[in-house]
This record gives sequence, structure tokens and C-alpha cells, in this order.
Amino acid sequence: MDYPEETQIRRKAEEVAKVFSRTKEFQELMTLYRCAIMEIETKLNVLNEEFSLQYDRNPFESIETRLKSPTSIVEKMMIHGVDINVENMEGEIFDIAGIRVVCSFKEDIYRLADLLVQQDDVLLLARKDYIENPKPNGYRSFHIIVDIPIFLSEGKKHMKVEVQFRTIAMDFWASVDHKLKYKKELKHPDEVVARLKKCADSLAEMDDEMEAIRQSLDLDRT
Ligand code: GTP
Ligand code: MG
Repeated sequence: MDYPEETQIRRKAEEVAKVFSRTKEFQELMTLYRCAIMEIETKLNVLNEEFSLQYDRNPFESIETRLKSPTSIVEKMMIHGVDINVENMEGEIFDIAGIRVVCSFKEDIYRLADLLVQQDDVLLLARKDYIENPKPNGYRSFHIIVDIPIFLSEGKKHMKVEVQFRTIAMDFWASVDHKLKYKKELKHPDEVVARLKKCADSLAEMDDEMEAIRQSLDLDRT
């Protein structure tokens, strides 16, 4: 039976990942990524606490963390055309450790991200502002890749973590868009994409309006 190329890569990755993910090296590296997630998550929670003292509200709606699945890791290495080993896993894939922070307002996103990367032990490696520059399909979010040291008995190890910041509206849109990716048998794909893009733009307008309302409420209070 013939499968589209994408599915074939996924199947092959699944097979390879079964063996690769059982190796000690893979499991040790994943443990380090898990520790890196804990470090960043704690830093973000500390900022959330401090922010709520200062401004009398919590900037976070939610914070989610995830480790990329072994199949997705192997698949990405295959797409990059590199050998499947832990050195390439660390060197090529920057989103093995992922954190998603959902904020109430757009301005909180930039404030939190700035406060995080200003910390002495956090190094900003990459920044993609899909809020200022949305993707053509309407996707909006603020992504950063940071380097963070984790302290082990045998010394310090630097790890990369991807942090995605979004508003509730952006997250709502992204979750519906994500579902679309698994609906390959759509009758009118172009029409759905266009309608989703329209939703993304309306949600962005609402985000701006909600932020303006919040600002005017803040002014009323003082
Ligand atoms: P990946 O290989 O997917 O990691 O893409 P990339 O390295 O080019 O990075 P990019 O910043 O474009 O996207 C990283 C992540 O953002 C993805 O894994 C998704 O979680 C999210 N993302 C990016 N584009 C979209 C989109 O169009 N829709 C949705 N729902 N999520 C997206
Ligand atoms: Mg990714």
C-alpha cells in the first residue's frame, strides 16, 4: 500500500524511536531536559507571584510544559538529514523542552519575557515575534529559545528550552487550528483556512480592545 511521504517518515521515525528511546543516553538527556523545564517553570512562577503583588493581578492564565515525544524528535532529525544520536538531538532540535505560558493580556507577554531573559543565568538564543508578524495563516504567539544551566553533581550543563507566550485568544485559535492539521479529508480546505484567518484577525482586534479596557480601568482606579 502507498502512503504519502509525510506518513512514511512518521512511520519510520516511530520504528527508530522505539529502539533509540530505550537507550541510556536518550533517557539521561531527557532527564536533563525535564530539569531544565523545572528551572524555567519555577522562574516564571516566581515572576507571576511578584507581578501579582505589584499589580494586584496574575499575568498568567495557565502554564503548560511538555517534552517532545521520541517519535517527533527522531522525525525532526530525519527531516534535518542527520544521524540519529544524542549529540545531534541536542545540537539540532531546540524544542525538546517546551513551555507554554498563556497570559491575560498582550503587554504581559512582553513584560514577562523581558524579565525572564534579563536574569543572569538565562541566555536568549532566538526570538520569533508572531504577534508583531503573524504567520500567513493568522497564527500569533511570541516564541523564545533560551539557554539555561542546570547544576548536577558532576558540574553544570547548559540546556535549551522553547517558551511560547500567548494570550487566551491566541491559544483558543491555535488549539482549533491544531485540530485542523489532523483533518486531512476536508472537503473545502482553502475555505476553512480563509475562515480561520478571519477568526485570527478578529481575535487580535479583541485582544487589543480588552487591553484598552484594562488600561482604562487601571486609570479609573488611580
Ligand atoms: P517546528 O518545527 O514546528 O518547531 O517549527 P519551527 O522550528 O519553524 O518554529 P515555529 O516557531 O514556526 O513553531 C514552533 C511551534 O509553534 C510549533 O511546534 C507549534 O507549537 C507552534 N506553531 C507554529 N505555527 C503554528 C500554526 O500555524 N498553528 C499552530 N496551531 N501552532 C503553530
Ligand atoms: Mg516545535
